[in-house]
Amino acid sequence: MGKILVVGACGYIGSIMAAQLFKAGYDLVLLDDLSTGFESSIVDVNLKLVIGDVGDRALLDLLFSTEKFHGVLHFASLIQVGESVLKPAQYYRSNVAKTLTLLEAMVEHDVGPLIFSSTAAVFGEPEYSPIDEAHRQAPINPYGASKFMIERMLEDFDRAYGLKSVALRYFNAAGADPEGRIGERHDPETHLIPLALHAVLGVRPPLKVFGRDYPTPDGTCVRDYIHVTDLAEAHLRALEYLWAGNPSARFNLGNGNGFSVQEVLDAVERVTGRPVPSEDAPRRAGDPANLVADSRAAKSVLGWNPQYADIDTIVAHAWAWEQKRVKLL
Ligand code: UFG
Repeated sequence: MGKILVVGACGYIGSIMAAQLFKAGYDLVLLDDLSTGFESSIVDVNLKLVIGDVGDRALLDLLFSTEKFHGVLHFASLIQVGESVLKPAQYYRSNVAKTLTLLEAMVEHDVGPLIFSSTAAVFGEPEYSPIDEAHRQAPINPYGASKFMIERMLEDFDRAYGLKSVALRYFNAAGADPEGRIGERHDPETHLIPLALHAVLGVRPPLKVFGRDYPTPDGTCVRDYIHVTDLAEAHLRALEYLWAGNPSARFNLGNGNGFSVQEVLDAVERVTGRPVPSEDAPRRAGDPANLVADSRAAKSVLGWNPQYADIDTIVAHAWAWEQKRVKLL
């Protein structure tokens, strides 16, 4: 079993990844600056958490010279599309520049391989659906552009320095740890499923449905919701793929099923047994009508096999987590 560095381990996906790796018996070091993550998301008390910035080269030098890592998982990122349009400098600094520091340190200390958290936002407005890896990349906001630039750096670092990597483009990460210990937690929260559940619980105002005039069957935006545990599993498969000596690659991760905002609200009503207080609102800037992944490559090449593809299961896990969380507030 190798030793793995998980960067951004206190975030939504990173914390679930850390718990999964811990359960599988991996030796872990976690790194997070707690700028958007929460220390309490690390539920396995024996895990070693270094509180620090992935852009801190001296810290990386210290880590890489004192511990021998067999892989790095990099989840640390700013992720809000709207904020990225208003504050692009922050996105290029936090996402691109800090990742460059990480890559340079990895090369210098001969650490690898790397699994990188990318996004469907690297594609921009889709030209066809479902979106496969051959789809042209034309991000339409600084968030997507920052991830696209990192994907380019990864290619160049492989070519020049032999750093192997897999970039995983998440579509819509959703759900929670099936055991209910960890789940989605953002501040501010902007994502559909937690906001709908909070509206049901009465801890937030009615959910705003952003646009009912999209060119989709019911007029609301269609997304591909993928369970966070399945996403974490793909990282492990990607590491094993690189450890087996395979070439660097990129994969799109989704279920291949699109659900409209209205269909998600219907699922929330089925799962909770309660109506979702909601109101119609104008379109949110930068939202493509339809984003659905073609994940056949991840399935065939990595042997990835999502376990929780059913939208009601995804919502049920998120619901169990939110009920518990709200009790703790
Ligand atoms: N939505 C609403 N009301 C809300 C929140 C969301 O109607 O209060 C709608 C959005 O307009 C969108 C859908 O619900 O159509 C899903 O929205 P999310 O904010 O949950 O997720 P996004 O699809 O906007 O974003 C996700 C990731 C981003 C990533 C993007 C890639 O969270 O990090 O996919 O396209 F950039």
